[in-house]
Order: sequence, then C-alpha cells, then structure tokens
Amino acid sequence: MKGRSFLSTANLSSTELGELLSLAQDYCGINNNHKLLPLDLLRGKMIAPLFFEASTRTKVSFERAARNLGAELIDLQIGASSLIKGESVLETAKTLQAMAIDALVVRHASSGLPLFLAENLHIPVINAGDGWHEHPTQALLDLLTIFQEFGSFAGLNVLFMGDIRHSRVARSNLFAMQTMGISVRMAGPPTLVPPEMKALGAEIVADIDQAVAAADVVYLLRIQWERQQSGFVSSLSEYSQLYGMGEERLALMKDHAILLHPGPANVGVELSAAAYAWPRSRIEVQVNNGVAARMAVLHRLLAED
Ligand code: CP
Repeated sequence: MKGRSFLSTANLSSTELGELLSLAQDYCGINNNHKLLPLDLLRGKMIAPLFFEASTRTKVSFERAARNLGAELIDLQIGASSLIKGESVLETAKTLQAMAIDALVVRHASSGLPLFLAENLHIPVINAGDGWHEHPTQALLDLLTIFQEFGSFAGLNVLFMGDIRHSRVARSNLFAMQTMGISVRMAGPPTLVPPEMKALGAEIVADIDQAVAAADVVYLLRIQWERQQSGFVSSLSEYSQLYGMGEERLALMKDHAILLHPGPANVGVELSAAAYAWPRSRIEVQVNNGVAARMAVLHRLLAED
C-alpha cells in the first residue's frame, strides 16, 4: 500500500484488511501507553489534514495517530487560507504538495473529491469522509472493534439501523464487512434505506425487532440532517419510537451482541441514554480504536520499508 491513496474499502482485499487490522491491534496498546510514544517511524514526514466539514473524532484521531508515529502536522485553517480568496481545492492541495507535504487527509461534503485530488497529485490522499460516499478509516476501526469482541468475522450478522441513505459509514462498512465474510442487514424508514443497497449486497429488513434479536452487532446511525432537505422523516418522536434503540428493543438483543455508533450520536433520537450507556455498548471503544486504526493506515502508506 506504500505511496497509494486510501479512498475506499471497496478495493481492499481481505489480506490487505487483515494486515491493517493486525497492525492496528498492535498499535492499540501503544496508543494507550504514553510512555512508549512518540515512535519515530514517520519522523521527518509532514501530514496536512484538510477538513472542509466538521469533525471531532476523525480529525483528532488522525492528528493523534500522526504524532504517535513521529510525523509533523501542518494544520491549514480552511477559513483563514487562500481558499476564501477563490483558490480551488485542487490548487490548494497542489500548493501543499509543492511545499513537500507527504500526505493529505481530506474530509469534504462532495462525494468523490478525495479521488479527484488523488488523480491529480502524486502524494497519498486519505479519505476522511466524502459526502454520502465513503469513510474507509471508520470502517477499519469498526472492524477492529468487532474483531476484538468476537475474535473472528465469519458468520457474524451486523444490522445497520437509521439513515442509511446519507451514510458514508454504512457504505464503507458494507464493502469491508462483506469482504471479511460478515452478513449485513439494513433497516430504517423506507425513505432513508435506498433499494440500491440490496444490489450492493445488503439484505433490507422490515421487521426491525426480529432483526435486532438475530444480530451479533447492531450499528446505529445518526440522521444526517446536513445532507438532506425536509420530508424524509415525519417527526422525530415517531422516528425514535419506530427506528430507534430504546430499552424495550435493547432487551431483545442476544446476550453476546454489541451496540456500535460512529458518533456523533443524537441521544434521544436514534438511541436512548440507556442504550448509549448499556454495558455492551462499544461506542467509546470505537473512538479509542480510531487512533490505532489511523496509525495503521499512516504506517502502511507512509513508512519507509
Ligand atoms: N465518526 C466520525 O466521523 O465522527 P466525526 O464527525 O466527529 O469525525
């Protein structure tokens, strides 16, 4: 993977995913032991995060991952850059490349923008979330969380619930999970579960309670208000009752099943406070694993042999 961009999970083989997960698992312990940090694996490398959309987890964890590996960060403030004077995103990226930046980490509302940059630059571009399209490092940290819980992927059944239509998390996970032998189901309001998901390999389910009871992992998704006009959901309380995870639905879950959410969560909408704090919720584990997963990606793309 050295020198390549990291744009999607759709083109990653099970071997590549397995190697990334194995490396990420090694980095989990190191990330949580500050005495071992920073490593000098990426000493001398410079990484520029370009976040055109809001982020807490992805931005901070990439920064943490880069620092953990000894890299330096060039934090371009989008609002104070020449972008506001009309310079294009591509010219901005080329300007950073001309200053010998080693990699860009890009989040943008436009699906396909990281790919466009990767096609026009010679440095690696890492997709940190593009529009409704993909969020590949989120899928990696989710797989890591699932592997830590179950020790393997084969035969697992994951149910995604909520706003599938606008979810880059659901798409990246669907590709990666199928590659690793996981069965993926999806449920939510018909307006927010596009039938195309079936063509991509997901089973769309109508009986949510039955699907929750059969799942090893229930993965809740936030309604992406920032990516939609009104009309997809009639009312929040109805949405929460029909498609959310409250205590009654939580009681249907198998004893060994876990609850995931990529964050940020709208507590009281897609899940109750009790569900968030449920002992088998792994939401905070996901956040912690985000640093290790991103260390693995930076390592594979940027470390010298
Ligand atoms: N999961 C995720 O992408 O969170 P942020 O928007 O906080 O980065």
